[in-house]
Amino acid sequence: QKPIRVALLGCGTVGTEVVRLLTGQAADLAARVGAPVELAGIAVRKPNKHREVPADLLTTDAAALVASDVDVVVEVIGGIEPARTLLLDALRAGKSVVTANKALLAEHSAELSAAADGSGADLYFEAAVAGAIPLLRPLRESLAGDRITRVMGIVNGTTNFILSGMDSTGASYGETLEEATRLGYAEADPTADVDGFDAASKAAILASLAFHTRVTASDVHREGIASVSAADIAAARALGRTVKLLAICERVTEGDQESVSVRVHPAMIPRSHPLAGVNGAFNAVFVEADAAGEMMFYGQGAGGAPTASAVLGDLVAVARNLVQGGRGPRESAYAGLPARPMGQT
Ligand code: NDP
Ligand code: HSE
Repeated sequence: QKPIRVALLGCGTVGTEVVRLLTGQAADLAARVGAPVELAGIAVRKPNKHREVPADLLTTDAAALVASDVDVVVEVIGGIEPARTLLLDALRAGKSVVTANKALLAEHSAELSAAADGSGADLYFEAAVAGAIPLLRPLRESLAGDRITRVMGIVNGTTNFILSGMDSTGASYGETLEEATRLGYAEADPTADVDGFDAASKAAILASLAFHTRVTASDVHREGIASVSAADIAAARALGRTVKLLAICERVTEGDQESVSVRVHPAMIPRSHPLAGVNGAFNAVFVEADAAGEMMFYGQGAGGAPTASAVLGDLVAVARNLVQGGRGPRESAYAGLPARPMGQT
């Protein structure tokens, strides 16, 4: 069977682990997919930094790598450009894409989905929300026959690491943020985490999938944790509560009008609440649906290896589709449902 050739864009915290899993499990992956899955090249900015990967795979020309003879593009660069242009080029050329880039998806998913629909390529992004936790595929596929009413939880590992560190050990905001960055949880610019932009992007992706509509990060009411002080955490503790940064996506019905409310903000929750026990870089998300009732998804929400696990899962799905002639979920599946105006709280 002809190998599935993969272009990897980015080899930082997540990309390094993608290379490790892809090469370390090559034989198992080939058996699961029905064809070898082989790395065709790795695009980075500074090749000299990357002694851990074969030098002949490295390139600084990501566009040429995307345009070369590859079947799948895995993007773990982050940010909007050049990721957006590279992924549009790949999708328009019929090359399937796996990405962990929530900032890009929260702003440009309509454009990316249209490019995928146009060429028949797959677009998978499980790693973009809640790291290793299988959450987007259940929303996109398993619950597609139900009516989801609410998605709520902790979707940013860095802020949860900071808040739970301040709460349990009394560590300072600065110390815990530094540690989260060292452990590879924080974004390249950690203000995206602490100011709630990262959680807002994830909330937009969750709401879009849960409610079959189009929510962008700018539709999300956003407050971060920068103003949460040690005194706030102590006050919460005295009240039997703890502070968590929550993302809340709700279907709102007023008369015969339905809309979607999406917000991210710190909240004091009782210590007896299941979310109060979610510590460190772990994430947890509750989903409520009419027929299914309540579900909770829990696991490692950030870090190289957990995120790479979700990327590899998507890569296997895409590669199987290529081998077996299948296709992933498409936006056209949502075409009959109206997009509602976004509510703000
Ligand atoms: P890093 O900053 O660690 O890595 C980014 C990589 O992209 C680096 O290898 C860098 O090259 C490369 N790069 C940057 N710009 C370019 C460019 N113009 N051309 C080619 N290569 C480029 O980021 P992460 O691995 O932490 O995150 C990657 C993506 O995954 C982001 O979208 C992030 O939001 C997402 N994500 C991250 C998680 C995490 O826990 N870290 C979890 C879930 C998602 P060089 O090394 O040479 O500088
Ligand atoms: N910076 C993100 C977080 C990475 O801390 O949750 C995972 O998406």
